[in-house]
Amino acid sequence: MSRRRKIYEGKAKILYEGPEPGTLIQYFKDDATAFNAEKKAVLDGKGVLNNRISEFMMTRLGAVSIPNHFIKRLNMREQLIRKVEIIPLEVIVRNVAAGSMSKRLGIEEGETLPRAIVEFCYKKDELGDPLVSEEHIAAFGWASPQELDDMISLSLRVNDFMSGLFAGVGIRLVDFKIEFGRHFEGDMMRTILADEISPDSCRLWDLETNEKLDKDRFRRDMGGVTEAYAEVARRLGIIKENAQGADVLDFSPGSK
Ligand code: TMP
Ligand code: ASP
Repeated sequence: MSRRRKIYEGKAKILYEGPEPGTLIQYFKDDATAFNAEKKAVLDGKGVLNNRISEFMMTRLGAVSIPNHFIKRLNMREQLIRKVEIIPLEVIVRNVAAGSMSKRLGIEEGETLPRAIVEFCYKKDELGDPLVSEEHIAAFGWASPQELDDMISLSLRVNDFMSGLFAGVGIRLVDFKIEFGRHFEGDMMRTILADEISPDSCRLWDLETNEKLDKDRFRRDMGGVTEAYAEVARRLGIIKENAQGADVLDFSPGSK
């Protein structure tokens, strides 16, 4: 692995050159960061859980014809993905007020929004990924009008699908962030879902108790971060119901 060519290293993942042209290997690290990397930690096993959870989500989304970069999982921490040119926008979909929206607009966390709201942030670490409007996106050409349309409609489909999927296992999908890429196939270019979908990039609350099962546990120093991610994986049927401690990370072939 160490001899492979590293293409890019981000805060939580590394991309390596893939075995065939047009592919990459996405490696999930245990590193966690928040507030534009002001806060950092290593959370044992987080990468393994996110690899599995993202595999699960992308596979399910693919099954309902939402195009995405996932090809197959290679091992505990790596997956084979389609190479894309990342569109420099984070697309956030919100169902319930929380986080920066609550702060910005003074809406109490937990208040259900009148409809799903799609927001865009410009991916620029130096600027702290500022919120931008469709006007900015069009004027600065960060995405074409067609890509913007595709991103909005795909994001809302992802939201509907994932809201139902999580509700089925007793979890409220409060909000999430996704990224899209341009996938080139010959002369064709299409917008596909990329990056990851995991408790790092979603807010997930227990439907009954509102217990947080996502990265806010890290952002807000609540502890039990990987335990919460493992609970999400357990409810989705990715890891064994009764798995505890080190067993949580026992992803032997028989363990589904
Ligand atoms: P926010 O309320 O902090 O703007 O976050 C909205 C959603 O986006 C939430 O599910 C967490 C996710 N998110 C990321 O995945 N990466 C980020 O850098 C930020 C700020 C939020
Ligand atoms: N991952 C982002 C960072 O390190 C922020 C976050 O998820 O809160 O800045």
